Amino acid sequence: MTDRYVVIGNPVAHSSSPRIHALFAQLTGEDIHYGSILAPRDAFTHVASEFLRGGGKGANVTLPFKEEAFALSDEVSSRAKTARAVNTLSFDGSVLRGDNTDGCGLTRDLGQNLGFGIRNRRVLLLGAGGAARGVLVPILDEQPASLTIANRSVQKAHALLADLPSVDPRIASACGYGELAGASFDLVINATSAGLTEAALPLPKGLFRPDSLAYDMMYGRETSFMRQARADGAGRTTDGLGMLVEQAAESFFIWRGRRPPTGPVLSALRPA
Ligand code: ATR
Repeated sequence: MTDRYVVIGNPVAHSSSPRIHALFAQLTGEDIHYGSILAPRDAFTHVASEFLRGGGKGANVTLPFKEEAFALSDEVSSRAKTARAVNTLSFDGSVLRGDNTDGCGLTRDLGQNLGFGIRNRRVLLLGAGGAARGVLVPILDEQPASLTIANRSVQKAHALLADLPSVDPRIASACGYGELAGASFDLVINATSAGLTEAALPLPKGLFRPDSLAYDMMYGRETSFMRQARADGAGRTTDGLGMLVEQAAESFFIWRGRRPPTGPVLSALRPA
């Protein structure tokens, strides 16, 4: 029987995950079916449990349910534990395992697809919500020269930093946007949700240099953050489509034990 997987979210209709996993299945010859389920905001646990009880092998979990998926899991990986969120559920019929592939999706996209090594670079992470939390430890694991977390609500940036298991204050720090004045970075990652409303982030001028990479974890033809970064002098800008494909590839690997090729999938999804 064909193994079944889904992405569960609200909203979920826009999700590219079914297309990505169908392409992975085609490219690897794995016999899977991957669908999507729109869960009512107050019914994630019920919807996920029904799917798994009905024979489902695993699920990707997207907004706004990643924290609930964490709570639902019987066992969680260390990377899910530090993110306090689960985007990949695997069910063997008795134990529900939760993992988080978002952070490794980001670092793989940077390292493998974009040829950008984080090691010894000065990194600025914008935002202190769930998206930022999910990528913090994987970025630090790559040993940047420094990691600055900046957020509109400064205390949330400090709280995020304080939650890290052990952090060298010479490497990682937190601040508000105003305190960034006069600094510049090799890599600036937008993990805020400001782009949903096209709101411009109140970033001081001069953050970007001609060789800086501005990375938006959101995806789309050109996001408002990408436009803002380019106008402020960033030499390279990218959206988060590569991260989406790489986090999906890691989920596929967890479920199927095979690493699908991501290059052809990224090309298929990129608008011409
Ligand atoms: P997610 O899970 O996508 O990270 P979240 O936890 O609600 O969502 O976090 C949203 C992030 O985007 C926060 O860092 C938020 O800043 P605040 O903590 O100050 O609210 C940031 N954000 C959203 N809209 C923003 C805007 N217009 N300007 C600046 N930051 C914004």
